[in-house]
Amino acid sequence: MSHKKQIQFGIMLHGPGGHMNAWKDPSVPADASVNLGHYQSIVKQAEEAGFTFAFVADGLYINEKSIPHFLNRFEPITILSALATVTSKIGLVGTLSTSYSEPFTVARQFASLDKISGGRAGWNVVTSPLEGSAENYSKGEHPAHALRYEIAEEYLQVVKGLWDSWEDNAFVRNRETGQFFDKQKLHALNHNGRFFSVKGPLNIERSSQGQPVIFQAGASEAGKNLAAKEADAVFTNADSLEQAQSYYLDVKNRAEAFGRNKEEVRVFPGIHPIAGATVEEAEKKYRAIQDLVSIEEALNYLGRFFDHFDFSAFPLDEPFPDVGEVGQNSFRSTTDKIKERARKQKLTLRQVALEVTTPKSALFGTYAQVADQLIQWIEQDGADGFILGSPVLSSGLDDFVENIIPILEERGYYSRHYQDDTLRGNLGLPFKENQYTKQTVQ
Ligand SMILES: Cc1cc2nc3c(=O)[nH]c(=O)nc-3n(C[C@H](O)[C@H](O)[C@H](O)COP(=O)(O)O)c2cc1C
Repeated sequence: MSHKKQIQFGIMLHGPGGHMNAWKDPSVPADASVNLGHYQSIVKQAEEAGFTFAFVADGLYINEKSIPHFLNRFEPITILSALATVTSKIGLVGTLSTSYSEPFTVARQFASLDKISGGRAGWNVVTSPLEGSAENYSKGEHPAHALRYEIAEEYLQVVKGLWDSWEDNAFVRNRETGQFFDKQKLHALNHNGRFFSVKGPLNIERSSQGQPVIFQAGASEAGKNLAAKEADAVFTNADSLEQAQSYYLDVKNRAEAFGRNKEEVRVFPGIHPIAGATVEEAEKKYRAIQDLVSIEEALNYLGRFFDHFDFSAFPLDEPFPDVGEVGQNSFRSTTDKIKERARKQKLTLRQVALEVTTPKSALFGTYAQVADQLIQWIEQDGADGFILGSPVLSSGLDDFVENIIPILEERGYYSRHYQDDTLRGNLGLPFKENQYTKQTVQ
């Protein structure tokens, strides 16, 4: 048995792949984003390769400029429930917004997925960056960034409380005595807060991992605080080891400040590796991906982060325009990063649009070089695992599994064997004790 730190991988299930025009990749079905068979085959392949979890992202607003496979895609809980029936080990994580849903419904949905999958569910808690979402939900204006996080925090308290409605073994189901449940093990929530008023109890029991795993991907101050306080695992974007290390340290320190143990929050940077047998081959793959996008498409893609701002009115080959506060209430941390990079590197609008659409990954080079970098990020406190934001195209999963995973296995940093049947167990997290049982035991 190796004592080296083990690398864990999650994979984003986008349908065709992570790139905005991945649907053009001839090796995937053109309708991949709504093709059940395609999702099933990718998730099975990831499970065979020992991936810790599969992740389905989500958004609540589209328009004609949205990424093509966002225009027509599955709702996460629904597709994950279907995938639960064809897998047995891999974790199933989905995005659901705290700004546009009700905690009682969402607690039920994830608890159900958790039971259906035998303790493999995870919830990526997002506050919904896209302002247009408000136009689909009859709730008035899109709440401002800070308010969205205040709502999210109370929301999570409610959901976690509801998930503990029934202590484990509360359902005795004794046909002889006619006793269906043990009253002592039933707890109503009786929550009355600033945003939510929820009596409970929830009408479903806990799963074999106790509660679904909480994922979060906040990058702002409020986002990182929520992650450090409430999440079991966090996603982040990192363009370099230094950036990854600084986020890793920051979130772990914040977790400690909230009285938690550093190991209780797992950090998963999103990666988009581009690798080949030689550097030339990797370059060739990168160029093929770049060629999938026209400049018009790249401007639309860039604009989406800035609340669907129309960049087409600006000259392409002049410095990146000053757009003021646009995007501040949307993908704030992403837009801040884009603006800073454009300023520092004196990039033109064309360069920014093409780079944002097809970023040249920090993980680029030969298979061995990329494997080395993954090990380095793990060894040097940049990550606990990685979420494969692609392989940029779905077909890239074969490439990753056939060429990079074997190197990691050989070096003792990866095992295809699952340690446990639950997602918590496979993330190295303990079973989530029911708060009421805990109180009785102490
Ligand atoms: C790997 C990863 C996955 C994400 N998935 C989603 C998603 O499915 N839906 C979404 O609205 N935002 C998603 N985000 C964005 C974050 O939820 C968040 O909006 C963003 O990081 C901005 O952070 P902030 O709200 O703290 O400013 C993701 C981010 C990362 C790094």
